[in-house]
Amino acid sequence: MNSSLQSADAEIYQLIQQETQRQSEGLEMIPSENHTSPAVLAALGSRLTDKYSEGYPGLRYYGGCEYVDAVENLARERAKALFGVTHANVQPYSGSPANHAIYFALVNPGDTIMGMHLYYGGHMTHGLKVNFSGVYYRSVQYQTGRDGYLDYEAMAELVKQEQPKLIFVGATAYPRIFDWMKLRQIADLCGAWLAADISHIAGLIVAGAHPSPAGIVDVMMTTTHKTLRGPRGALILCNGNPSTPLKKVERTKNNLPTLIDRAIIPGLQGGPHNHQTAAIAVALKEAATPAFKEYGKQIVRNAKKLAEELLARDYQLVTGGTDNHLLLIDLTNKGVSGQDAEKALGRAGITVNKNTVPFDPRSPFDPSGLRLGTPALTTRGMQEAEMTRIAAWIDEALRNSTDEEKLKKIREEIREMTKRFPLYPTL
Ligand SMILES: Cc1ncc(COP(=O)(O)O)c(C=O)c1O
Repeated sequence: MNSSLQSADAEIYQLIQQETQRQSEGLEMIPSENHTSPAVLAALGSRLTDKYSEGYPGLRYYGGCEYVDAVENLARERAKALFGVTHANVQPYSGSPANHAIYFALVNPGDTIMGMHLYYGGHMTHGLKVNFSGVYYRSVQYQTGRDGYLDYEAMAELVKQEQPKLIFVGATAYPRIFDWMKLRQIADLCGAWLAADISHIAGLIVAGAHPSPAGIVDVMMTTTHKTLRGPRGALILCNGNPSTPLKKVERTKNNLPTLIDRAIIPGLQGGPHNHQTAAIAVALKEAATPAFKEYGKQIVRNAKKLAEELLARDYQLVTGGTDNHLLLIDLTNKGVSGQDAEKALGRAGITVNKNTVPFDPRSPFDPSGLRLGTPALTTRGMQEAEMTRIAAWIDEALRNSTDEEKLKKIREEIREMTKRFPLYPTL
């Protein structure tokens, strides 16, 4: 790392070193995390962070934008090509503000919106009562069935009854594939806008390891820092024709590009984070390579292998397995809570997070489940053989969750194993 930081601010330098070491010597299994490439990090730590450029390329409120214009145009072109759409907004600061922009663009305060409930795998910006999306809009929440699968029939009934103007689909903790055509038919029951929040699965979609909603839903939003393996940030993707500046536009499909762009600025944001845009552009270039396609497929193979190994050790998985990058373990039969399991695994060097499971009888602060995923491990080059070892370590740690000596021993074994798998293989 940059030695000027070390001399300018030894405390921050030291903390960054420690965090890097923590990531490097442990197993990062939070499904929304990943390890970015040195090229992405270089763009993120560049002079572009100094530049103000409110507006869009060619239409800025500031001078000196010729290079950041080119950066943003590259990011936009790469995003469009990768996801198969005609318009991309690359300026959202992160996923939550990006979702906020979609509401701002398509509905009015007080309108009915629908999204999957947080406790069943949805994100809080999909209408949770304590989130802006549940405060400013009349939010109706759908959920999974007892089997953990999204209950499309119940959702269709709810849509007919509640007549939402906008439906969000997407999840933070859902281990199965979304049937976009079925969801389109459901939204069409009442003429609702359909937004796909593909934050978790964008990298899988790019790799062909999950069906794409492009051309089926009205708007897609993805964070750039999960399976897509870029810096923190987000993209809003859609089809349509941008309108001329200042012209009033109606809420029609053809006007989606203008509606989204105006929702970002002047609707919600000021100056774009140009260093972040450049790093997103780099990540999108990486994601367009054959190596990334293989990476996305390996994420799923690894998750399936981990599921198989845990099932063989009598772990209950929500939906019985996985189609994507994550697993949700219901620990009820193991006599350990989600919170205690998260802590025990943490002491063993395995970072995961506690999570509710569908119809969880316990509190969200100490739920019955654990959520774990394979994107970061797969970036490090780990494959099926490592998943087998990791499942055995998870099992051993959970069976000995109060035995500090056992947890310490696992941690040492993991530290030894990770030496063969640097955070980013090209480092
Ligand atoms: C499905 C989904 N949407 C939106 C977000 C929000 O992204 P951010 O944390 O960047 O605001 C997340 C992040 O966890 C997510 O999983």
